[in-house]
Amino acid sequence: MRVRALAGVVLLATMTLAGTPATAAPPAAPTALPAAAGPTSTGPAATGLRTVADRAGLRIGTAVDMAALAGDAPYRAAVAREFSTVTAENVMKWEAVEPQRGVHDWAAADRLVDFARANRQKVRGHTLVWHNQNPSWVNEQAFTPEQLRAVLRKHIIDEVSHFRGRVWHWDVVNEVFNDDGTWRDTIWLRNLGQGYVADAFRWAHQADPQAKLFLNDYNNEGVNAKSDAYYALVKQLKAAGVPVQGYGVQGHLAVQYGVPGDTLTNLRRFEKLGLQTAFTEVDVRMPLPADPIKVQAQAQGFTALLQACLLADRCVSYTVWGFTDRYSWVPGVFDGQGSATPLDENLTPKPAYAALRDTLAVAGR
Ligand code: G3I
Repeated sequence: MRVRALAGVVLLATMTLAGTPATAAPPAAPTALPAAAGPTSTGPAATGLRTVADRAGLRIGTAVDMAALAGDAPYRAAVAREFSTVTAENVMKWEAVEPQRGVHDWAAADRLVDFARANRQKVRGHTLVWHNQNPSWVNEQAFTPEQLRAVLRKHIIDEVSHFRGRVWHWDVVNEVFNDDGTWRDTIWLRNLGQGYVADAFRWAHQADPQAKLFLNDYNNEGVNAKSDAYYALVKQLKAAGVPVQGYGVQGHLAVQYGVPGDTLTNLRRFEKLGLQTAFTEVDVRMPLPADPIKVQAQAQGFTALLQACLLADRCVSYTVWGFTDRYSWVPGVFDGQGSATPLDENLTPKPAYAALRDTLAVAGR
């Protein structure tokens, strides 16, 4: 199905990225989300992302805010209807699952995994080793390097074992490199050296041999110093027999910076090393206020990454980092920027939503 779809995808890429005059109005957006998707849909207009992604052979996902999932019924319905994978935006991170040493709280993460099972969705586990959102008890003052290694090992084994058989992908190590390709200075690098990455993958594999294990980062879409560093690292890990199976591209874009033109080339070189690839956290922010050209550029950003995924050979999922501006991390972090997701605060689709759905529909023909 993916091979047959290529001609159509290329045609759409040409139309949306090159053929549209810069002054054209953005494509018309539907005024509401489709009421239903799946076997009861009445036609393409009533078809949500999940249905068209299924037909294209691609898993489509979203990060999930657990407070919203519990308290916002339309949000909850949209997560179930529009997506075939879910990622915990925060509740699988170490600070959430082990706030005190040896005291685990899996409740929120379990609720997401149960929701996914009830809705026949896969789960992307995010994230095991990171420099952010670690519990305060994990620090260099409290432990020797040797103890820190044991603490990290226990964390990985505990968490992956808890979800064994229920998590499809794990983002095992997150954001290892700086943008210039040097190693990021973290508690793990300082105390354990570069070998912590190989160790983390081995421990995760030991705890769940079925889960696919991913590296994950931002600003690594195209061929650049950071993705070059990952490429060299993957070669080393593979040569040493380390169980690394995926290259995750977060895809946090901004309309003012555009989309790297060599994203597909980059995915392909990792796939040639034997890895699966995935877009794991896509959003496309803009300086506020939004205007028609920014909104159009946003739609093109979302679809450019989706097209790269559909044109690649082993790109297995495309996940947005939140699907509505009602719950988005962007305005809190980037002053004066926002509107980064495909639906606005009222869950009304923007042109980006229609563009994603149209691209998936073309690929699934
Ligand atoms: O849990 C506390 C809550 O108790 C407190 O009342 C509240 C007050 O601000 O803060 C809550 O913690 C927040 C946490 O999200 C959970 O909601 C933090 O302040 C906030 O900084 C944190 O932000 C998350 C961020 O990672 C932290 O680095 C975002 O929601 C989340 O979207 C973001 O996700 C990351 C990916 O994991 C990795 N890639 C980049 C991506 C965007 O930064």
